[in-house]
Order: sequence, then structure tokens, then C-alpha cells
Amino acid sequence: NIESFSFNTSEFFQNPYPFYEEMRSINPIYKSTLLKYQGWYITGYEETLKVLKDSRFHSRPPIPAFSRNYENIRRIQENMMLFTTPQHHRRLRSLVTKFFTPNIVNECRPFIEETVDELIDQVSCRGTMEVVSDYAFPLASSVIAKILGVPVKDYSLFKEWTATFIQSIDFTRSPKTLGNSRKATEEIIAYFKKIIREREQEPKEDLISKLIQEKQREEKLSYDELIATCVLLLIAGHETTVNLISSSIFLLIQNPRQLEKLQDDPELITTAIEEFLRFESPAQLIARTASEDIIINEAVIRKGEQVYLFLGAANRDSRKFRNSHQLEITRNPNPHLAFGHSRHFCLGSSLARLEAKIAIERLLQNVQNLQAVDGNGHYRKIIGFKSLVELHVTFDSYPD
Ligand code: HEM
Repeated sequence: NIESFSFNTSEFFQNPYPFYEEMRSINPIYKSTLLKYQGWYITGYEETLKVLKDSRFHSRPPIPAFSRNYENIRRIQENMMLFTTPQHHRRLRSLVTKFFTPNIVNECRPFIEETVDELIDQVSCRGTMEVVSDYAFPLASSVIAKILGVPVKDYSLFKEWTATFIQSIDFTRSPKTLGNSRKATEEIIAYFKKIIREREQEPKEDLISKLIQEKQREEKLSYDELIATCVLLLIAGHETTVNLISSSIFLLIQNPRQLEKLQDDPELITTAIEEFLRFESPAQLIARTASEDIIINEAVIRKGEQVYLFLGAANRDSRKFRNSHQLEITRNPNPHLAFGHSRHFCLGSSLARLEAKIAIERLLQNVQNLQAVDGNGHYRKIIGFKSLVELHVTFDSYPD
């Protein structure tokens, strides 16, 4: 019985897809009254797309999502473009979109290439690495640190903060994890307050300095919004990108024929990245709230009800994707929803794609015989993200 299902099992975190299949076969828009989080569980592709395109669904969680004890988490989330009201969303998003267009992002290419080469250099003679902490994390966190203008060397601080902070938006949250998130949130806020003070006195050519100018000009941005935007960009800017890069490497190891294909024809990298995004969607679950009564197919979703969109399930829906549970790096077209859709469509999609492309391309140019030491990899106990805790690999380096 689906209603007695517990999300909190290691089988689910390793492989949630059988559960998604089961739920979709009962109903792609499934109303749960018994599962811990009541609401509509959407596992179908077309149904997910309908909700994302429908502006009557808001991303702002119902109030009160957090009790008074978690005031700092509530305040920071409410001021993020991702969770704010549609009217504030437009203003906040328009302040930063210009920094993430494909052309601007392409200016980061030399820094990304340099960072990737340094990371490969550090591990190449060892013949082993832990993909998440030796490769994916230092890359993605240095890139967003550089764009924002926080010291790149601080990137190791972000790992724990991010992991703890995102638990506050996950189904797995509990008073204990919320307590930890509150502490992590305080630390991140203090960190950005200090950087903002420094940039106010001495502006630089970075995103934080530019946002401070916006704040000063016509009061386009409040202080809380400035901090929330920095936190959102820092977290969104690396968490899922780390997941994408690590899962891509793991998927190639698990699918040697696909790896061979990519080695034979490196041009396939572009469609390969889209397929990695579809197959192991880094953001697995997002949520919406109905702002009025809304009918989707036969479902009558009442004002205030929560809708949970399982992007990882939509991207494996066999009604949309042929051989949906097979990784096919040549798949094209591939209209996956890994970056969401419409109003909140991922702001950093060009940056994430570029980082992943360079990371995989250069790794394959430098190493061969990639093997996972632990055949299973190890996914974090969290529902919203498909996130490898660690992945130990061995390889042979090509001689220089
Ligand atoms: C929004 C996924 C990388 C910044 C989103 C959303 C998804 C997503 C699914 C929509 C959430 C919703 O509709 O509720 C991903 C994935 C990434 C990635 C899979 C990497 C593979 C990045 C990067 C940045 C970024 C590198 C850095 C700038 C954002 C922001 C939003 C967002 C600011 C909120 C946009 C809005 O509310 O209008 N992302 N993201 N993301 N993403 Fe990403």
C-alpha cells in the first residue's frame, strides 16, 4: 500500500524510481492524505509541466511553514526569489538574470578550465580520487564564489552550511535537522553581512558589489533581499551542479557502452549532459501551492493545497521518454524538466551546463579505465536532491 510507504529508507534514497513508477501507475496526480506531507504528489511528465506553466500555482510555501523558533530560516527563505510572491519575484529575478546569460557565463570559461585542470593535476598521479570532494565540489563552489565575489578559498565552509541549510526545505526535516539548519543559517548570514560591509566600503567588480549598487539605487533591493539573494545564489549555484557532475561520472562508469560512445565521439557531450540531467535529476522534488481552486485533468486542487512535483519521476515517465529507464547519451530531443520550467526556470542553467561539460570533457581527455571502488556509490538521505555523498574511483592517467 502506497500510503504506508516510508520515504526514509536507504533503498528509496539509492533508487527512488520504482516508487515513482508505482505512484504514477496508480495516478500521476495522486492525492495523499496519509503520507507525512499531505497534498498532491505529481509523478507524470505532462501533469508536472501543466502545473509549472500555470501561474496560479505559487512557489511560496504555505504560512506558517516554520514556527517562531526558526524565524531566521523563514525570513531568509521568504526573501529569496525562489519562494517570494510573484510580484517580488519579477523584480528580484530581473536584478540578476543579466549576470547569467549564456554570453556572460561564457566569460567564466577560462576560470572553469583552469580550475578543472588544476584539480585533475592534483589527482592524476595518484590514480584515485573521491569525485565529490576532490573534483565536483571544489569546481562548482569555486566558480560561484568567484562570480559572487567571495574569497574562493572559503569554499570549504560552504559544504557543511549548504548540506545543513537544504535540509530545512526537505521532506526529511525534523526538529533536529531544523535546529542544525537554524545554526547554519545564522552562520551564512553573518558571513555575508561581513562581506557586504567590506564591499560597501570598497566595491569590486563582482556580483555582490553590483547588487549593493542596486540596493543603494532607488531602493530596488532591501537588505534582507540582498542577503537572501547571496545565499540563494551560493547554495543553488553549487549544490545541484556538484550532484550533476558526480552523478554524470558515476553514470558513465555504470554504463560502459555509453562511456565508450562518448570517448569515440566527444561531440556527444552536449546531448550526454542533457541525458544525465534527465536520468539522475539533481533537483528531484519541488513544490507549489494553489492560489485558488484549480482543476488539472480530473483533479480538483483546492486553494492553499500543496503540490509536490517529482521532477525525477517526470523525467523517467515512459509516456514521454522512450526507454525512459535507459541512459542514452544520444537522446535528442530531450525536453527534460531538470531545470524546472516557466517562471522559476533555473537561472543558472547555462552555467551548470558549461561547468559539467568542461568537467566531463577534460576528465575523459586525461584519464582512462575509470572504475568505481564502491560499485553502489552512496546517495545522501534527502528527498529533494539526488546527491552522491561520495564516490571513490580509480583510473589510469594518459601520459603527458
Ligand atoms: C531554480 C535546478 C544550477 C540558480 C532552479 C529550479 C530548478 C533548478 C529545478 C526551479 C525550482 C522551482 O521551480 O521551484 C538546477 C540544477 C542545476 C542548477 C539541476 C545544476 C545542474 C544552478 C546554478 C545556479 C542556479 C549553477 C547559479 C546561479 C538558480 C536560481 C533559481 C534556480 C537563482 C531560482 C530561479 C527563480 O526563482 O526564478 N534550479 N539548478 N542553479 N536556480 Fe538552479
